Amino acid sequence: MPSITVEPCTFALFGALGDLALRKLFPALYQLDGAQLLHEDTRIIALAREPGGEQQHLAFIAAELRRYVGEKDLDEAVFERFLARLTYLHVDFLKADDYVTLAEAAGSTQQVIAYFATPAAVYGAICENLAKVGLSENTRVVLEKPIGSDLESSRKVNDAVAQFFPENRTYRIDHYLGKETVQNLIALRFANSLFETQWNQNYISHVEITVAEKVGIEGRWGYFDKAGQLRDMIQNHLLQLLCLIAMDPPADLSADSIRDEKVKVLKALAPISPEGLTTQVVRGQYIAGHSEGKAVPGYLEEPNSNTQSDTETFVALRADIRNWRWAGVPFYLRTGKRMPQKLSQIVIHFKEPSHYIFAPEQRLQISNKLIIRLQPDEGISLRVMTKEQGLDKGMQLRSGPLQLNFSDTYRSARIPDAYERLLLEVMNGNQNLFVRKDEIEAAWTWCDQLIAGWKKSGDAPKPYAAGSWGPMSSIALITRDGRSWYGDI
Ligand code: BG6
Repeated sequence: MPSITVEPCTFALFGALGDLALRKLFPALYQLDGAQLLHEDTRIIALAREPGGEQQHLAFIAAELRRYVGEKDLDEAVFERFLARLTYLHVDFLKADDYVTLAEAAGSTQQVIAYFATPAAVYGAICENLAKVGLSENTRVVLEKPIGSDLESSRKVNDAVAQFFPENRTYRIDHYLGKETVQNLIALRFANSLFETQWNQNYISHVEITVAEKVGIEGRWGYFDKAGQLRDMIQNHLLQLLCLIAMDPPADLSADSIRDEKVKVLKALAPISPEGLTTQVVRGQYIAGHSEGKAVPGYLEEPNSNTQSDTETFVALRADIRNWRWAGVPFYLRTGKRMPQKLSQIVIHFKEPSHYIFAPEQRLQISNKLIIRLQPDEGISLRVMTKEQGLDKGMQLRSGPLQLNFSDTYRSARIPDAYERLLLEVMNGNQNLFVRKDEIEAAWTWCDQLIAGWKKSGDAPKPYAAGSWGPMSSIALITRDGRSWYGDI
């Protein structure tokens, strides 16, 4: 899939003093530098609106980089080399004149990468101004999520960008696609005939996708409250995971072949009916509770909150895919803030054997499960049935794992952060880990009907205590179908 080359580029990072740039993007670029994956001529230009001198901002970026990479993991030689590539430019994103210096700094570089870690509302203006100073021909643009808050607003943003940059130079980020184990889904599915022959409604009973976070809203209330968990996590990350599990084998590994298959899945998602809104979907909002043994406030008591908000911080739902492969196989999706642990995991539940010959009381345990752990402890485990050992055990069955734990198996290798992989792929011009316009639109179309249904019903989200696995009705959602969420959770 991704290839490694080290072509030189000018990397222009818009929104360089924001949280994403400081926490993720500079550290990712630093790690690429450390792995010798930045060409010696690659230059990084930090662009931001904040007033103040270049030296002051550069010193701040350097200090934050030290903090996020971590003193003990920082290599001073790489750090110095990295800082030598870095310059700072003050720009008003909306003023074309401010881009002249950027164009001069980019000079005759063959490749410019413009990364927008800014609100999507200014993407169009940045693109227009890049074009005005002659920086559209050899530039790739990278768009961070959220791109809009519904189909209409996302179209507006995409159309504004498309006036200046064609789709094959537009890279829409979903950072889940850069995670090592997410990429491994493609290898697992399409490099092992063992799985692909079983990957359908004849053998699979249902699929669970859980993305749980321990953190609450922290300092992001203003942004999050307008979005909510459906827009923040389901519309992008969870639907992307669903696509990678559900898509048909692509003809090849090219970006368009993979994305064509993903779009088919999104378009095959069954809309949720008005009755389904109560039986198939659960919205929750956390109230005060405990996290790691400490008392923590509820969503409505977080700093800067609006105490009337009915924004959801948890969603569980059942999605159905209308095609031959997945007819009758529910996909249960669950994601929330302030859950007991950080856990992203996919569980494929296989059907029970068609003819059962073992003791009747073991019946419930007998299906195989493929567990794909994205984080933490990245790995894949297949639960298979074996016989208990011992003369006294007769044909007593137990479920045990065939396990591949990535950090044990590839002990020496550091698991790269998703952004390292994604930035490298942009530099290589490889789009298969990025989301195409029609994918985003299909995902919004499905989510918009849910949001509209919620609005119409006016139902408030169900409360759940911080540190729990969500409202009780999220358990009822799956037990109603005679199933339960996997594990001790
Ligand atoms: C982001 C969301 O896209 O993903 C955040 O906006 C969320 O709300 C984050 O916390 C989770 O990412 P990860 O990689 O920590 O699972």
